[in-house]
Amino acid sequence: MEPGIFRKTIRQYFQKYGRDLPWRRTRNPYHILVSEIMLQQTQVERVLGKYEQFISAFPDFASLAQAPLQSVLSVWQGLGYNRRAIALQRIAQTVTTDWDGILPSSVDLLIKLPGIGHATASAIAAFAFGKPSVFIETNIRRVFIHFYFHDRDDVRDSEILPLVEKTLVRSDPRRWYYALMDYGAMLKKQLQNPNRKSAHYQKQSPFKGSNRQIRGMALKTILEKPYITEAALLKKLNRDPEQILPVLYDLQKEGFIRKQGKRFHITNP
Ligand code: ADE
Repeated sequence: MEPGIFRKTIRQYFQKYGRDLPWRRTRNPYHILVSEIMLQQTQVERVLGKYEQFISAFPDFASLAQAPLQSVLSVWQGLGYNRRAIALQRIAQTVTTDWDGILPSSVDLLIKLPGIGHATASAIAAFAFGKPSVFIETNIRRVFIHFYFHDRDDVRDSEILPLVEKTLVRSDPRRWYYALMDYGAMLKKQLQNPNRKSAHYQKQSPFKGSNRQIRGMALKTILEKPYITEAALLKKLNRDPEQILPVLYDLQKEGFIRKQGKRFHITNP
């Protein structure tokens, strides 16, 4: 498809159906960073409930940097993948101590921060700093497969990236990427999700009863009852210990929780 027609289709869709999301009303790099980390593995609907709550609890890099990990995790509850909260706090600490409270605008520097990969670094560069970065995330991938690879399977991101670069609206990358993401979110609701044609496609595993759910429940229980005994924790989680114990072991190994004697508590920074 000719780039002009492609752009026009996406932009017309956005003009009519574009989503008005709170993190699209700001250029505050801290606010954009928080939203992008939250949106990494979590649906927009679920992030909407947490974003403002998190920003009010920790309004800037300095307050997040100084907060006890307990309170950061406690506000994060419900989003899952708690290592993102820890990474976010580490970023806040780096920014306050090393960079005078200023988030860098270049992809090369952003990508060095914990929890920030190429897509997140590029999204921050585009949304907070208006940079014409070139990147793919799940919604963007879906749009390009739909328009350019409808007759293909196992499409690689390396095949899509040159098209992202070629079609990028350099005069307003921010609005362009919002439009691509919204078009992609719309395509997802269609019967056949184009991302099934991606070589990188991974169906979201069922959450209920998964290790990820047990991790979340274990952390929540320990947050609510610090220094809970192992026996009390197992009782409260009401699951086969053979499923819970490896999860608790992983949480310790990754530094989220510590065991002292028979009791668990959340690790302090
Ligand atoms: N708006 C800005 N960033 C976004 C993202 N990662 N997903 C959906 N909408 C967004």
